[in-house]
Amino acid sequence: MNQRDKLWWRHGIFYQIYPRSFQDTNADGVGDLRGIIGRLPYLQSLGVDAIWLSPIFPSPMADFGYDIADYTGVDALFGTMADFEALANAAHAGGLRVILDLVPNHTSDQHPWFVESRGSRDNPKRDWYIWRDPAADGGPPGNWLSEFGGSAWQYDATTGQYYYHAFLAQQPDLNWRNPAVRRAIYDVMRFWLGKGVDGFRVDVIWHLIKDAAFRDNPPNPDYREGRPPHERILPLNSTDQAEVHEVIAEMRRVIDEFDSRVLIGEIYLPLERLVAYYGKDLAGTHLPFNFALLSAPWNARGIEKIIFEYEAALPQGAWPNWVLGNHDRPRVASRVGRAQARVAAMLLLSLRGTPTLYYGDEIGMHQVAIAPEQVRDPFEKNVPGIGVGRDGCRTPMQWDATPYAGFSTSTPWLPLADDFRHENVANLDADAASILSLYRALIGLRKKLPPLVSGDYVPIVAEGDLLLYRRESGETTVVIALNLGAEPVSIKSDAAGLSGEILLSTFLDRQGEKIQGALDLRGDEGVMIGTSLVP
Ligand code: GLC
Repeated sequence: MNQRDKLWWRHGIFYQIYPRSFQDTNADGVGDLRGIIGRLPYLQSLGVDAIWLSPIFPSPMADFGYDIADYTGVDALFGTMADFEALANAAHAGGLRVILDLVPNHTSDQHPWFVESRGSRDNPKRDWYIWRDPAADGGPPGNWLSEFGGSAWQYDATTGQYYYHAFLAQQPDLNWRNPAVRRAIYDVMRFWLGKGVDGFRVDVIWHLIKDAAFRDNPPNPDYREGRPPHERILPLNSTDQAEVHEVIAEMRRVIDEFDSRVLIGEIYLPLERLVAYYGKDLAGTHLPFNFALLSAPWNARGIEKIIFEYEAALPQGAWPNWVLGNHDRPRVASRVGRAQARVAAMLLLSLRGTPTLYYGDEIGMHQVAIAPEQVRDPFEKNVPGIGVGRDGCRTPMQWDATPYAGFSTSTPWLPLADDFRHENVANLDADAASILSLYRALIGLRKKLPPLVSGDYVPIVAEGDLLLYRRESGETTVVIALNLGAEPVSIKSDAAGLSGEILLSTFLDRQGEKIQGALDLRGDEGVMIGTSLVP
């Protein structure tokens, strides 16, 4: 295998599939693995290189699969192990890698390990989870809060102790200080890697190790009313402990037992803490997800600051990555607006680092309003009314204009967006100026022009709504000019130092236009320019 193949995750583009919502083939209103198989040609034609599947394992679905009851099976809702193998084979045959979600921080409370653990104080699995005596007053053993509301400690009457759950009470945390737990999860990894899976996206990896003494978390002086209640305290003792890096290095060694696999970490931390997850000597995660754009202020200075600080914080040799959306955060088209979603696409696909696309963003899917009786997300159910619900970004993929958008032949588990009759793959494919056509063009250019993958990032201008930078490797340079606002912007060449030819406009109509001395951007327009630098 040559070096380029080994490092496929550097030059490739990832695409996240939320399996419940991608394609249903058995008319139960929930997507399945056979559905994904049927849509592989779409993904190939889009030009992505790897798909990451949110959890497909047997689960009571309290948190829609992030509560796993069997790490080495496939939930019947999604299909069978044979279906998974068929999916992996078909994907690989079509040049697509397959990444699975690994959820090692917690299991379902229905997992046999936890059933045994909670059964008595002296069973062999007791120490696989985190059990503590009640406080003197009988209350929880500390002040740690669940991310989904309320105390993170759940009293269990059978044995008179509390167990810790960073998320739902149905998601008890495993005790990662116990070597037996580590071995068990490493065997789970080997099971899937042995089946040819190309790597894992590791769920809440920064949560794995907690303070050994379970010291209380300090209050958050910046807490604002209307924010989720767990933000009242700072999770300094419950997450991001130094020892987590030993665990991740072990996981990485398991990954490295196999050829060219990738380890991605889900980490919501400030940039300076995030980059520690590359590990000592880069022996941690290959790609600690960089979520900075999910909450970026949408102006040139704000975005440039994020890019600059991230680039500066990266350890020597570490490979960057960028994310615009996922199954936990509001859709980008709703965050930045429909017109800017195209500019955001150009940003994502022209930055230095592996991009991860979230299904549906390529057709501009927006956040869908969910009526109270349609809420499925446990976060919204536990903490209602402040906008934390994640259902709106998990609605069914919009394939065509048929009654259920080509997603299913019966009522989907979540409502469809009201505009699906127009905003769907079939329609947008037929429209040479659509956002889908833009995504195809951007992905095509990224594949064709090496500077877009491996070139340096060089900031040029960040002012008002104008963000201008270039990607350069050797003699070849691509200049990217993004107008982050709705008003036109003009650039003078002496500020930018460029001349060349437009390779792509987000409106898909200026290809080949010569640029000499000045560039006019329409409102909400981004362009890429193939250029020679004027000395
Ligand atoms: C991660 C997942 C999220 C899930 C949580 C608990 O943040 O992305 O969907 O609810 O972990 O497993």
